[in-house]
Amino acid sequence: MQTELIEIDRRNMPVHLIERAGMILRSGGLVAFPTETVYGLGADALNEEAAQKIYAAKGRPSDNPLIVHIADMEAVGQIVKMVPEEARALAEAFWPGPLTMIFHKRECVPMGTTGGLSTVAVRLPSDEIARELIRQSGGYIAAPSANVSGRPSPTTAQHVYEDMNGRIPMILDGGPVPIGIESTIVDLTEDHPVILRPGYITLSMIQTVVDRVEVDRGLSAEDSVIRPKAPGMKYRHYAPKAELQIVEGPVERVVSYINKQCSGAGKTGIICTEETKTCYSHGDVKCIGSRKDEASIASHLFAILREFDEDGVERIYSESFETPGLGQAIMNRLLKAAGHRKIDVTQ
Ligand code: TXA
Ligand code: MG
Repeated sequence: MQTELIEIDRRNMPVHLIERAGMILRSGGLVAFPTETVYGLGADALNEEAAQKIYAAKGRPSDNPLIVHIADMEAVGQIVKMVPEEARALAEAFWPGPLTMIFHKRECVPMGTTGGLSTVAVRLPSDEIARELIRQSGGYIAAPSANVSGRPSPTTAQHVYEDMNGRIPMILDGGPVPIGIESTIVDLTEDHPVILRPGYITLSMIQTVVDRVEVDRGLSAEDSVIRPKAPGMKYRHYAPKAELQIVEGPVERVVSYINKQCSGAGKTGIICTEETKTCYSHGDVKCIGSRKDEASIASHLFAILREFDEDGVERIYSESFETPGLGQAIMNRLLKAAGHRKIDVTQ
């Protein structure tokens, strides 16, 4: 299959091109498109066969459900049984934007979209290309991140092309995404909202809207007996080809540990920050952003992991980013990429 890569000018939205992409979706095909978080791989969410094509193109396990993307609030009521009060408040505060909510689904949403679950994940993105495409496609696009299963999520159309060339008919190129990590997922089917995946919308932002919110206990690696409720969180993800290790502790000790590991070793990569980038004397040093600006770190993470693959490094060392805000989402992705390999050099 020939994959068409179509550049979209955001200042002068070419509606006829998005209409064409919408036609592909309406007829059961796949289209990759930008969102504010990462690029998505879309199919008509209400067409079981179309949704199945996503699993084939990504090599995704069939028990891992897809997020349904909508373009307006009215669409929620069409696909979910009930919208609880807290969900309305969260939608009011964070939609359109990088928040996904889980509800009990209606019959019209096929099990092939929800990985056999009776619940459905719904997101109303803020990206204008995504929203126009949703409207042109009939209103409901099932879309996971547009990477081959297990690889870092794509933050540019070029990343999508690397993974999906020959597998899908069309990619809409809206330039690099602004956020760079996937949406926060909140489950609204329990007594209280539960965060199933940390993201750009942080725990404290959610706490300003709802009285009580919990974090899925299955998310912490220490608690390995408890499975995460979002099926996708149990898989190894974002994994670069090289072995990645996270190094935690006071900054001088981290720098000296990494320098020691890299001297005389094979081809090594280092993930550092603006604050430390001149401290490393060996290896393929990549600056992920400034510690004063967590959003910059989030937006570069996946692209850097892909770059190390291209550079052919054998080992990667990364500084640690544990903080209560966006750092939680960053560390969640980084730990998965590292297969939870983390060393504390405090002592
Ligand atoms: O930012 C995002 O959310 C991006 C863009 C494209 O919108 N999408 C994305 O989709 O990250 P994906 O498929 O890579 O991740 C979806 C996650 C998976 O961990 C999946 O298991 C979980 O959402 N999920 C989907 N439906 C669910 C449900 N009904 N119950 C629990 N978890 C669900
Ligand atoms: Mg994904």
